[in-house]
Amino acid sequence: MVGKSVVTLDDLSTNQILEMLHKAEYIDAHRKEVSHTCEGRVLATLFYEPSTRTRLSFETAMLRLGGKVIGFAGAQLASVTKGETISDTLKTVSNYVDVVAIRHPKEGAALVASRAASVPVINAGDGGHMHPTQTLADLATLQSRFGRITDLTVGLCGDLTFGRTVHSLIETLCRFGNVRFILISPDELKTPQYVIDRINATPTCSYVEVRDLASVIGDLDVLYMTRVQKERFFNEDDYLRLRDTYILDEDKLALAKPHMAVLHPLPRVNEIAVEVDDDPRAAYFEQVKNGMLMRMALESSVVGDDLPGYEPLNPK
Ligand code: CP
Repeated sequence: MVGKSVVTLDDLSTNQILEMLHKAEYIDAHRKEVSHTCEGRVLATLFYEPSTRTRLSFETAMLRLGGKVIGFAGAQLASVTKGETISDTLKTVSNYVDVVAIRHPKEGAALVASRAASVPVINAGDGGHMHPTQTLADLATLQSRFGRITDLTVGLCGDLTFGRTVHSLIETLCRFGNVRFILISPDELKTPQYVIDRINATPTCSYVEVRDLASVIGDLDVLYMTRVQKERFFNEDDYLRLRDTYILDEDKLALAKPHMAVLHPLPRVNEIAVEVDDDPRAAYFEQVKNGMLMRMALESSVVGDDLPGYEPLNPK
């Protein structure tokens, strides 16, 4: 994985994804031992779109590995306002750092960045397309809750059109197989065809599309809630009409299995009532922690720094 850019999780083999999960578990148990792993390294976070978790966890990950961080949060502070292209920015920043994390509102921007850069580029979310490191956090949460990432009935609920975390997660779960997807959305926010095609191309996976959450919640091992992505709507009226279609509260949760896990990439707006946070099925703040650990695993891997004492699942 040394020197590798991660634009989608297709850039990693299934063995490499399993290795990242294993590494993150090791990092969690050996935080002090790994705290000098990336000494002398520098990460750039180039965030052209708002973020709390992704940017701060990429940065914390590098700091906790002993490295340093530069970057910008908000394109208005960068030379993009003077007309600089992504390619020129990446050719420039490649001279300063060992690895780049980029978030951009346009689908495909991370791919353009990775082609221009001479250091690894990690996609921290490109428009409504993909968010691979969120998926790594999601997989780590499934692994810790169920001890596996296959043989699950996974409900994805809300904005399945613009929710890039949903697209990354479905595509990746299909690679491991044996998942039954229940896609819960209004007609206006259904899953894009290219993601459906991926499920259809996986013999051990299946899907149904439904509108009503209450009628299927009792079947689910995992309920992945999503925010309706206001920033990707062309029309404010449509957003206002659709934003509160699904609200998970205690009454709905009472219909679910006792060990169902509720995931959400966050930020949430109204789609999960705060009262749900105290339910043991709420796993979304665990996802946040797992996001940092997985980014530590990924950053150390792509810059080629070995974690002291770590025994790989897949020896080189
Ligand atoms: N999950 C996620 O991408 O959160 P942020 O937008 O806060 O980074």
